[in-house]
Amino acid sequence: MVKINTITESILEVKTDGIAFILEDGFEVSKDIKNKIKEFGIDILKLFKKQNFTGKAKSSVSILIPEKNGFKNVFFVGMGCCCNKMEKIAENYRQAIGIAIGLAEKNNIESLAIEIPEGCKKFKELNEAYFAHQTVKTAIVASYKFNEFLTSKEKKDKKLKELILVSKGKNKKLIEESVELAKVLGNAVNEARRWIDLPANKFYPAIAEEEARKIAKEQGLKIKVFGEDQIKKMGMGGLAGVSSGSEQDCKFIILEYKTSKKNAKTLAFIGKGVTFDSGGLSLKPSRGPGSMETMKEDMSGASAVLGAMKAIAQLKPDVNVFGVLAVTENLPGDGALKPGDIVTFYNGKTGEVLNTDAEGRLILADALAYTEKELKPDVMIDIATLTGACVYAVGPFYSGLFSCNENLIEKIKEAGNITGDKVWPLPIDSDYRKAMLSDIADVRNTSKPGYYAGATTAALFLKEFVKETEWAHIDIGGTAFNVPDRPYLGNGATGVGVSLLVELAMNWNKKK
Ligand code: BES
Ligand code: MN
Ligand code: ZN
Repeated sequence: MVKINTITESILEVKTDGIAFILEDGFEVSKDIKNKIKEFGIDILKLFKKQNFTGKAKSSVSILIPEKNGFKNVFFVGMGCCCNKMEKIAENYRQAIGIAIGLAEKNNIESLAIEIPEGCKKFKELNEAYFAHQTVKTAIVASYKFNEFLTSKEKKDKKLKELILVSKGKNKKLIEESVELAKVLGNAVNEARRWIDLPANKFYPAIAEEEARKIAKEQGLKIKVFGEDQIKKMGMGGLAGVSSGSEQDCKFIILEYKTSKKNAKTLAFIGKGVTFDSGGLSLKPSRGPGSMETMKEDMSGASAVLGAMKAIAQLKPDVNVFGVLAVTENLPGDGALKPGDIVTFYNGKTGEVLNTDAEGRLILADALAYTEKELKPDVMIDIATLTGACVYAVGPFYSGLFSCNENLIEKIKEAGNITGDKVWPLPIDSDYRKAMLSDIADVRNTSKPGYYAGATTAALFLKEFVKETEWAHIDIGGTAFNVPDRPYLGNGATGVGVSLLVELAMNWNKKK
């Protein structure tokens, strides 16, 4: 884990083996820096000119200056123009931090100092505290390596040990607070990423239970776990049905955070936790897009909820929060669901299972129905790697958002823009409902022909299991794993959703 310190002296005086300047497009280098670097015989302006460096996003220049006992690496990283949209500036900034951390690692730097921007005049949200927060969270996220199964030592060791934030120090307290929040969040994101990156033989439903119990115990959250027998007895035919082809017991896990504030609203976050999705008897192909190759990622929704609950327990927002995890494997073993089977869900509705690979909606149906009836939250938000169709609709940079409630859409969009877990609203109107109605059961788990919009029809299936509670569904099929062009992420799990859910809880009562 990176150690983080905040200081207010000049960045040139900080004792580190690396410093990074994050510069906006068209920046001017301060005299101090110019002169300091000139001492080493380098005309920095000429160098920038030669390398065409003006501060554009994704660009950087590195120099090495001799010091008493070695060298200091100086990185100049571009963050693009502050004339962009708010969320673009924020994303460019995160990428610049990711590039800086990458350069630091490549150069075996142990301690890196970064001067945080004072703020972006155009947007009041993008103040110094926000940049401090993003710097710390992104640096922690960028330092994550899933290397616990690498046995060779040199692959493991390249890691930044210390990050020093240099701030001009106008708002010291605010900056310190936002740095604390960023540390909790960055670590929660990385923990969620690890659960996802762990392959299905290392992370299965019983391990999810173990991790959830550990977090509940450490953080003082209430927890209740139902095993497969109870799940069957309670009438959760969707979850039990999906689990029936696996030798592992499925789990239904409920965590609860309670605020000390009176009359607080209650949110419920519900995550899809398919620890491996083979497709079941409707077996997925072994290679290519949407294949089994990456289907250990199919518990990313549940991981996001669990990671968010861990952060929420520490950050203590003024809302009550339930974290609900439906966890199972989807395998084609003995007793597996067969295409054409009919299952009965928690609310008594019946569903025709035409494709056993549309399993996420089956387990979420039970989870939504249970949560609404038994936990009675004011708002339910589910998050799931639900459809390949969503991957094709919006790709890797936006999660699909579905809700009939405009206010909720706005709230989630705003939280996404601030955190970087961006969402894009997709249709969920009742025109698509007929696609999911069966002739021989109440619903069917794949769409009738002619409706096409696979992410939307999946959302309409889920909607059948929500009676009257405010609800939103977030499809992270494209955003949870292997997202390209994000220097702070690399391959594997992204931890999408953790920051989004935490931001929603923290700011739920904020007046607009
Ligand atoms: N877990 C998959 C969706 C998915 C695909 C997530 C690619 C991430 C990347 C889900 O269970 C699934 O298989 N959905 C099917 C549904 C179809 C059979 C109606 C799909 O989208 O192909
Ligand atoms: Mn599937
Ligand atoms: Zn799935």
